[in-house]
Amino acid sequence: MRMPQAVKDELLMPDKHPAELWERLEPFRALMMEYQCAIMEVETKLRVLNAEFSVQYDRNPFESIKSRLKSPQSILEKLHRKNLPLTLSSIQNELADVAGVRVICSFPEDIYALAEMLLAQDDIFLVERKDYIANPKPNGYRSLHLIVDIPIFLSQEKKRVRVEVQFRTIAMDFWASLEHKLKYKKDVRDAERIAARLRDCAEQSAQMDAEMQKIRHLIEWGHE
Ligand code: GTP
Ligand code: MG
Repeated sequence: MRMPQAVKDELLMPDKHPAELWERLEPFRALMMEYQCAIMEVETKLRVLNAEFSVQYDRNPFESIKSRLKSPQSILEKLHRKNLPLTLSSIQNELADVAGVRVICSFPEDIYALAEMLLAQDDIFLVERKDYIANPKPNGYRSLHLIVDIPIFLSQEKKRVRVEVQFRTIAMDFWASLEHKLKYKKDVRDAERIAARLRDCAEQSAQMDAEMQKIRHLIEWGHE
């Protein structure tokens, strides 16, 4: 992590007693707890939809969910990269991905159906929607990203918390995990060539997703 020494010293506070350090961290831990609760709320909403669908239509709109809370180190790195002050309000106002939920579906149409069902709920607000399935990134990245605002109910108050929800097919997720390796590995030989092959792979797997969806329609409805 590239961070000025002064910032590191301030964060580590070598002259402070551990109890004081812990006390200063309390508001940060409270904020992280809120993000963790928001992840639980989003996951529960999705699991409820899955349960309903498996009874009503005998299928699951998603295969799995992978959630993560951004690590303190990644939060600091991102604030630093964006030239933002290291404060709780910068985290809340400027970082949309502290709480992240990744929903892995089998078919592209399930992604849109699930996203619509989630957004139709009256306590969840859409902050931003990026459709990298309809408009893939130049490198081939595909996923539907929603930034949502969701209420969590604490003992003394109701708070709205921001969560980034990424919807992908199994194939898109497989692709993204391979591409991630290229992005974060330094000094890769033939990086250009690898990037071109990854772009081809993204194209082919999008075609496979579309074809498998058609086959599902043939099996279920007798037509595409
Ligand atoms: P960030 O500052 O990274 O949050 O960028 P952004 O605000 O423009 O967000 P965007 O919606 O484009 O991407 C946010 C997240 O989507 C990333 O943290 C990754 O998890 C994922 N993502 C976006 N682009 C790519 C990509 O090209 N490859 C892979 N593997 N993941 C990506
Ligand atoms: Mg982002």
